[in-house]
Amino acid sequence: MNYIIDHANINEINEVLSMGIDKVTANPTMYKNNHTTLQDFIDYYKNKELSFLSAEVMGSTFEEMKQEVEIILAYYPEAVIKINFSKDGLKLCNYLHKKQIKTAMTLVFSLEQVLAAINAHADYIFCFVGRNDENGSDGLQFLNDAHHATNGTHTNIIAASIKNLFQLQELSRIGIPYAAIPYALYMKSLEHPLTNSGAQTFKEDWAL
Ligand code: E4P
Repeated sequence: MNYIIDHANINEINEVLSMGIDKVTANPTMYKNNHTTLQDFIDYYKNKELSFLSAEVMGSTFEEMKQEVEIILAYYPEAVIKINFSKDGLKLCNYLHKKQIKTAMTLVFSLEQVLAAINAHADYIFCFVGRNDENGSDGLQFLNDAHHATNGTHTNIIAASIKNLFQLQELSRIGIPYAAIPYALYMKSLEHPLTNSGAQTFKEDWAL
């Protein structure tokens, strides 16, 4: 399972990138909480060695979003265009597919929405685990169904809204190809008490 760091704090992202992750995504709430903008983000990362960097469009109509895409791609042709799920979003996704522009549908919560995004030729679909759970649904079952639905297609599922290590482990067991992992959860995932105690013992024994 490939990690995509799901964050908007550039210093913290760079720490994670230094450990081998080369994919970055965020959302408008993350930019706001980190007092940054999509423009700043792309400015910083457009010349870096990333294999995936998403850029969201926020327009309400196909035409509005299409204009946003033109601005983004003029500035960063390699951007993966991140589109909030909607009828116009599906139209934009299909339109960009015909132009060989990479797309990611986001805010996807149901298998029906996944099927529509697959048929709009989305390259990626951000399927939300945590927010589904919070809404009384089974987020991991949804991800399992979404992954199965992509069989035989070019669409890749990206698990999003990941809240804990249990979900992370289950997503890997399901075989989800990409996980948008929050910075704090990634850092927590590196820690294990037996590693820490083992390292302490090795250091003590090494001194003998
Ligand atoms: C992708 O970037 C999604 O917007 C993100 O994973 C959502 O996470 P949240 O549900 O914790 O806001």
